[in-house]
Amino acid sequence: AEQTYDYDVLVIGAGPGGYVAAIRAAQLGLKVACADSRETLGGTCLNVGCIPSKAMLHASEYYDAAANGAMEAMGIEVTPRLNMEKLHGQRIEAVDSLTKGIAFLFKKNKVEWKKGHATFQDPHTVKVGDETVTAKNVVIATGSSVTPLPGIEVDNSRFVVVDSTGALELPKVPGHMVVIGAGVIGLELGSVWRRLGAKVTCVEYLDEILPGMDEDIRKEARKIFKKQGIEFRLGTKVTGCTVAGDTATLAMEPAAGGAAETLDADCVLVSIGRKPNTDKLGLEAIGLDVNKRGQVETDHEFRTKVDGVWAIGDVIPGPMLAHKAEDEGIAVAENIAGQTGIVNHDVIPSVVYTWPEIAGVGLTEAQAKDAGHTVKTSKFPMMANSRAKTNHEPDGLVKIIADAETDRVLGVWAIASVAGTMIAEAALALEFGATSEDIAYTCHAHPTHSEAMKEAAMGVQGKPIHI
Ligand code: FAD
Ligand code: NAI
Repeated sequence: AEQTYDYDVLVIGAGPGGYVAAIRAAQLGLKVACADSRETLGGTCLNVGCIPSKAMLHASEYYDAAANGAMEAMGIEVTPRLNMEKLHGQRIEAVDSLTKGIAFLFKKNKVEWKKGHATFQDPHTVKVGDETVTAKNVVIATGSSVTPLPGIEVDNSRFVVVDSTGALELPKVPGHMVVIGAGVIGLELGSVWRRLGAKVTCVEYLDEILPGMDEDIRKEARKIFKKQGIEFRLGTKVTGCTVAGDTATLAMEPAAGGAAETLDADCVLVSIGRKPNTDKLGLEAIGLDVNKRGQVETDHEFRTKVDGVWAIGDVIPGPMLAHKAEDEGIAVAENIAGQTGIVNHDVIPSVVYTWPEIAGVGLTEAQAKDAGHTVKTSKFPMMANSRAKTNHEPDGLVKIIADAETDRVLGVWAIASVAGTMIAEAALALEFGATSEDIAYTCHAHPTHSEAMKEAAMGVQGKPIHI
């Protein structure tokens, strides 16, 4: 007789990967439980990631516009006063209502929420807190956490040396904030506190900020941030940190070797990347190894090499992004239900929610060339876009990289106030295998920032109108 289980599916982790997988599996008629050790649902993204960071970015953008002349330039004269309690209050409120929203969706879809840390006993048996749960399928969606920097101790309660979680909650604006790592978190949260009045210095190991993005975009972004007042120490590694009272002193040296120096800060943000969560998950009990980067490997259908055990999200290879995790959550549930769930990992947009926003999808120019393409590219400056110019948002550009022979679009990169929204069009274009001509001959509403996308495509064709 077939073995019976408590559930068809147990999902471990209720982040955007896990909660979406659980809901989709339930929608497909399966009996589903979802375990998470946090007090609230939504994982990193809703509790300490995407959502609270955007709440702080949005509010600080208004403050910046009022304090630093952008409003005045439009004839609105105000002197802003910062109310930290309210600023944090609206962040907490956003997190609270969205995490509760997931609890509501779980109820609506009959997903059982199990609060507690999950550990495998065998491939179909998992201990969640004190409870033992059996399931025909188990999905590992345990996400990721902050990569520690050896020699530097994070203490999110004292606010002198913090990670991203502490940097969301600083009770006062630091005089000097030093960000270690000029990646996505460093630039987003560094921007928040710069806008609110802190002096911000980013110390980055590599020679350029934002690794992984197109070279032109990385350079242009750094110029813009520099103009906003963020200081960069590139090609520099931090070797240690001492804390005396409310001051941290960082020891640094050139990445290539050379004379050491020190830098004082009122707040240090450690943002050098994130690592997959597989600790105390009991992977050894099911004979599942992690790769060199600590990730759980899967096939295209998100099966691990252990029968009945699947994995998605930040814990598997690929960009550590909420929308990638969500799409994998849908796909894994469909595959468990016997359907064909697919994620096109070549078309995952990424967005940095600074001002202006920085976004990209597909290949960088260097990646396209490495992949053997002869490319034609075109850049259209936001300065020449009527809406951006009218809105006093001249910084940035749209860059399109197309195959020179077929004209197929290989990658699109943008810096613009609303680049995160604009990039959706590019993702659709790549997904449909569009050519730059397709984009150039698609009617785009006027006056919108998106016209810059059309003009960049016209540029690939050799005939932009407005430059
Ligand atoms: P997670 O969201 O990490 O969820 C995993 C959950 O599993 C967690 O709640 C964890 O506590 C729980 N868990 C782990 N192990 C166990 C266990 N053994 N038992 C029970 N529970 C367990 N991405 C974007 O796309 N856009 C953004 O704007 C963005 N902003 C970010 C800002 C910050 C400050 C940070 C830190 C991240 C941001 N990210 C953003 C990344 C995004 O948060 C992650 O890519 C996303 O949350 C990954 O989803 P996940 O479901 O794989 O894992
Ligand atoms: P990151 O990988 O984006 O950037 C880390 C940076 O630190 C890199 O530039 C790296 O070269 C540098 N670095 C590494 N070690 C260093 C050292 N010892 N000294 C100095 N610099 C060093 O990682 P980050 O910013 O921590 O973010 C983690 C992940 O979270 C991102 O990769 C992304 O997947 C996700 N995230 C996504 C967001 C979004 O989509 N908007 C926002 C925030 C986070």
